[in-house]
Amino acid sequence: MDKFYHIVTYGCQMNVHESEKIAGILSELGYKSCGAIEEADIVVFNTCCIRENAENHAYGNIGMLKKLKAAKRDMIIAVGGCLPQQINKAGNLHEKFPYVDIIFGTHNLSKLKDYIVRKQSRRKAVIEIEECDGRIEEGDKPLRASYPNAWVNITYGCNNFCTYCIVPYVRGRERSRKSENIIAEVKSLIEQGYKEITLLGQNVNSYGNGGADIPFYELLEKVALLDGNFRLRFMTSHPKDFSEELAKIIAKYPKICHCLHLPVQSGSDSILAEMNRRYTSADYLRKVEILKKHVPDCAITTDIIVGFPGETEEDFKATLELVKKVDFASAFTFIYSRREGTKAASMPDQIPEDICKRRIMELVELVNAQTRVHSAKFVGQIVEVLCEDYDGKRGLYQGRNEYGRMVYFASQNDEIGNFVQVKVNEANGVSLFGDKV
Ligand code: SAH
Ligand code: SF4
Ligand code: F3S
Repeated sequence: MDKFYHIVTYGCQMNVHESEKIAGILSELGYKSCGAIEEADIVVFNTCCIRENAENHAYGNIGMLKKLKAAKRDMIIAVGGCLPQQINKAGNLHEKFPYVDIIFGTHNLSKLKDYIVRKQSRRKAVIEIEECDGRIEEGDKPLRASYPNAWVNITYGCNNFCTYCIVPYVRGRERSRKSENIIAEVKSLIEQGYKEITLLGQNVNSYGNGGADIPFYELLEKVALLDGNFRLRFMTSHPKDFSEELAKIIAKYPKICHCLHLPVQSGSDSILAEMNRRYTSADYLRKVEILKKHVPDCAITTDIIVGFPGETEEDFKATLELVKKVDFASAFTFIYSRREGTKAASMPDQIPEDICKRRIMELVELVNAQTRVHSAKFVGQIVEVLCEDYDGKRGLYQGRNEYGRMVYFASQNDEIGNFVQVKVNEANGVSLFGDKV
C-alpha cells in the first residue's frame, strides 16, 4: 500500500529548499507526496523563528493536528527547522504538543531517516537537536518541487550577528561549500533542464571568507560561464560586503538577472549602528550608486524593519527618506520582533505596538506607491518571462521577468519551463498582465 507524506514549510528560501531535501529523504523511504494533510502517513513541519508570528503560525498548525493524530494514531508528526533549534524550545514543544513524534533541528536534518525508523519501533518521541559542528554535508538528494527554478546552497549559517536576528543562533557559523561542488550541482541541474538557478546563502557576498577557494564574484562568474539557456540569481547580499567587482560581473553576463536584493533594514545611522549592520545610510547609497553605474536598469529590492528598540520619529523619517532616494522596485517590511537570546532583546526602550503599527503603515504606503510606479514602467513593453506555473483560478500562465516581477498571460500550449515573450498591457501592484507575442 502506498504511504504518503505532507510537508508544511515556513520561512525563507533556505527552508523551502531544505523541505525539498526532506522530501528527498521521505521518497527514499518509499513515501509519496500528497496534497491533503488528512491523507498523510507522515507530516513534517519545517519551521521558522525569524519573527514571533512565524513561530505562532507553526504552533497554530501543529495544534490543529491534535484531533487528526488522535483519530489516526499511526500517523507520524515531525517538527524540524529553526524553531526547535532555539535554546530550550525542543523541550517546550514536546510539553506543549506531546503527540508530536519527532523533533529535530537545523543541523541534523539528514538524520531524519534514522529518526523515522527509530520512531516506528517505539512509543516514545524522538527528540534530537544537535549543535553545528562546522561540517558541510554533500550528496543530499533534494526532490525538487519548483521546476523550472532550482535553488543551490552556497553558504550555510551567518557570522554577522545583527543584534535583532536569531539566524546566527539557529543556523550556526558561516561555512561555504567548495566551488567545485556548487558548479557540479548547477551543471547537472542545467543538464536536467532547469532554467533558473538561485544561489542561496544568508550573506552570499561573504562566500569564501574563512578559507574557501574563491570570492563570490568569481564563483558567480564561473556559474554564468556554464553552457545552456538559463537565468542566474542569488540571495541575500549584505550591503557591507557588496563590491564593485560583483556589480561588474552582473553587468558582464546576460545570464545574471538585473535584480538585486540588498536589505537595508533602516535609514538611520544610529539605528544601523545599534543593529550592528556595519554600514551607514551614506555607505548604502554609495553601493547603490556603484551598482547603478554598472547596471543602470537593475531592480533593487530590500528588507526594512520598523520599531527597532530606541527608534525615534526622526530615525523612522530617515528610513522614509532613504526609501525615497533609492526608489526600491519593491520591499519587504517588518515590525521588529523581539527574539529571546539576541542582543536587541535586552535593549531598553522597546517600541510600543501602536507606534510600530503606525510606522509600518506609513512605510508600506510609500513602498507600494513606488512599486506601482516601477510596475507601470513595463506597460507597453515586451518582456521575457520564464513561465513557472499555471494559475488555475485566473486561467493564466505565470512567470517572472528578469527583474523579478510576476507576469500573467494566456496561452493554448503548456508553457511551463519556456521563456516566453509577453507584451505587457496592464500593471496591478506588483503583478503585470499581458499577451504572448
Ligand atoms: N540573511 C538575510 C535574511 C535574514 S532574514 C539578510 O541578512 O538579509 C530576512 C529579513 O527578516 C531580514 O532582512 C530582516 O529584515 C528581517 N528580520 C530578521 N530578524 C527580525 C526581527 N527580529 N524582527 C523583524 N524582522 C526581522
Ligand atoms: Fe540575520 Fe544579519 Fe545574518 Fe541576515 S546578516 S541572517 S539579518 S544576522
Ligand atoms: Fe526563518 Fe530559519 Fe530562514 S529562522 S528566515 S527559516 S534561516
